[in-house]
Amino acid sequence: MNKPLGITVSRHILDSQRLHPQATGELSGLLGELIVAAKTISAEVNMAGLADILGQSGRVNVQGEKVQKLDELANSTFKRRMARCGYLCVMASEEEDEIIPVAEGYEGKYTLAFDPLDGSSNIDVNVSIGTIFSIHRRRSGSGQGNVADLLQKGRNQVAAGYIIYGSSTMLVYTTGEGVHGFTLDPSVGEFYLSHPDIMMPTKSKYYSVNEGNHRYWSEGMRRYIEYVKEEDKATHRPYSARYIGSMVADLHRNLISGGIFLYPRDSKDPAKPAGKLRLLYEAAPFAFIVEQAGGRAITDDGHEILDIEPSDLHQRVPLVIGGRKDVEVAEAFLAGKR
Ligand code: AHG
Ligand code: MN
Ligand code: MN
Repeated sequence: MNKPLGITVSRHILDSQRLHPQATGELSGLLGELIVAAKTISAEVNMAGLADILGQSGRVNVQGEKVQKLDELANSTFKRRMARCGYLCVMASEEEDEIIPVAEGYEGKYTLAFDPLDGSSNIDVNVSIGTIFSIHRRRSGSGQGNVADLLQKGRNQVAAGYIIYGSSTMLVYTTGEGVHGFTLDPSVGEFYLSHPDIMMPTKSKYYSVNEGNHRYWSEGMRRYIEYVKEEDKATHRPYSARYIGSMVADLHRNLISGGIFLYPRDSKDPAKPAGKLRLLYEAAPFAFIVEQAGGRAITDDGHEILDIEPSDLHQRVPLVIGGRKDVEVAEAFLAGKR
């Protein structure tokens, strides 16, 4: 008997589109272009260990450019492809101060915010890194989009996802109808459905946080982390600590195996009173994905991440994200109720 054929990501996107007879195919087209950008970055990431070696020889690439740092390379790869995809009106990248216009004549109805390489401190040590994206429908009428098109709350996202460059490259995305994961078969350059309808455990036994910041945390935050380390067999405590330092990798693991991830505000840097992670490129897309997988994402003072109206492209937000029950317990500690 023949083995069943794998479901490619393009097949999956088209099948989902078919469930919406009014769909124009533009979102499918946009996701298709994102996938090509992701595959390109995946190939670049796999070459990362060689970049320096080849770079020293003064190597220039086919476009005649010098070898770039990987995060800059990922940013320009993404930006150049997406600027001409024909489905976007404006973009924003974690790596760029200002909005990124699309090519003239290629304006479409969506916006894209992205973190081209998340976990960049892990690039040089061969640890998993990723790319995060968030898509909204534009608010302005036509032509080039503007910053207001991008400053929309996470609840309005049309799609969000990430690509993890790990032991395999995987794409995980949602359009609000569940979360689906695809694994890249590098021998044919296709993503195949490997994790349909991901649902994360509501309670877990893992916590992910940069505990080096302990002394800068609030009292509630310190007490919560003490709590997860106490012994209580009924609630699987003490939890195990897992912290990679790449949000994509930490949250990917938590989606599959369960867990709570926290990056709360701390008093370490008075210039960054809201924690480290960025609302548009990191917190909001992951909040959408995690909620779709049955989890929850809040600020450290109990606001739903998806309901925050952004005021700034690079705004930071204190984040608590994970299984529903785990987040509920953390929320009570952070509010001083436990
Ligand atoms: P980026 O590499 O895009 O700047 O993001 C890094 C982020 C996130 O991926 C990770 O969870 C967090 O920074 C780690 O920060 P600490 O080193 O402060 O723990
Ligand atoms: Mn990041
Ligand atoms: Mn980044």
